[in-house]
Amino acid sequence: MFNSKERVREAFRRWRGGADPLFVACAPGRVNLVGEHTDYNDGLALPMTLDRAVYVAARHSSTGFHELRSLNYQESLSYRLGEWPAVPHAHWATYVAGMIKELPPPKPVEMLILGDIPLGAGLSSSAALEMATGLALEKLRDTPMDPLDLARIGQVVEHKYAKVQCGIMDQIVSRVGRTDHALFLDCGKLEWEHIPIQNREAQFIVIDSRVKRKLAHSKYNERRAECHRALQQIKAADPQTTSLSRIQLHHINRLEESVLRRRLRHVFYENERVKKACGALVRSDWDLLGSVLSASHQSLKSDYEVSCKELDYMVTQAESFAGVFGARMMGGGFGGCSINLARTQDAHSVAEAVSMAYEEKYQRKARAHVLGTGIEAHVEWF
Ligand code: GLA
Repeated sequence: MFNSKERVREAFRRWRGGADPLFVACAPGRVNLVGEHTDYNDGLALPMTLDRAVYVAARHSSTGFHELRSLNYQESLSYRLGEWPAVPHAHWATYVAGMIKELPPPKPVEMLILGDIPLGAGLSSSAALEMATGLALEKLRDTPMDPLDLARIGQVVEHKYAKVQCGIMDQIVSRVGRTDHALFLDCGKLEWEHIPIQNREAQFIVIDSRVKRKLAHSKYNERRAECHRALQQIKAADPQTTSLSRIQLHHINRLEESVLRRRLRHVFYENERVKKACGALVRSDWDLLGSVLSASHQSLKSDYEVSCKELDYMVTQAESFAGVFGARMMGGGFGGCSINLARTQDAHSVAEAVSMAYEEKYQRKARAHVLGTGIEAHVEWF
């Protein structure tokens, strides 16, 4: 991995005619061990930060314009304070300009951005971009912010400007996640606990199918709408039940549409799996954690229907190795990555073998990564 902070600082200097940024703000991407499609249903999740991040080098601007530059895309743009840049929804600048709009700085800003999180792979590069930009704005505004408020603003930016009705898991873990800890997150209560990962007999491997989640956003929003519809029906019969985090199996069984029963079955059992996984992590019970991962995959595939054939194949391949405790698709779905739990001594060979089998079957190169130590969001001043 390159030394991103130095690289972003150097690039900033070249871009701004030798001037140094004031600081570099950094926020990581995430993996999610289990608890998928539960966050927007007030449920539980168990994410942790990635060893890859987004870096934003920043200072106030004296040009009268916001000056933004992405090193990854080799693109720059400038626009006037209080205006909006002419960019499409999913453009990198949408997330940056969205944060600027929601957290207006007193003066225009200069921001140079560099990330090493694979894009569109379900590793929350956009949440990391929001949180790194948010941290930078927090410093430029010189007003300390509650991390949860910053995460909420990141979510608003997704909803309002990027048009993705995401939950809040990605932003929270990117902002508050700690090195060597997973985050037991209750998205209904908006509370969390840092769960130490104590021993390293097992490693997580992320394997990117490189199936881009093109349709994902509309399907993602569709799943959210289905859950909302199911909750309305349950509430009509039982007004006490105001959130899907409180549903019981009898609520689910009474729903008329089988598709809604399946969606909620996933949500109900996925919450149970998060509790189980959390206990397993605390005890370093890798067998149990692995079996929870695999059960989650089956549920995401059959009941929630957010997997795809490529991810199913990768998971089945991984599970065929003796050194693998379990595997599942990760994130919003319809492409992106799988997460695999393997014995440490087998992790690299499993990563390679699954990637090779995948390439042979789909003539597409997978990108495997044995997770290193997770990064914490922070700011480094110069
Ligand atoms: C995406 C969203 C999250 C969450 C996951 C699925 O990553 O951004 O809020 O809903 O999908 O668990």
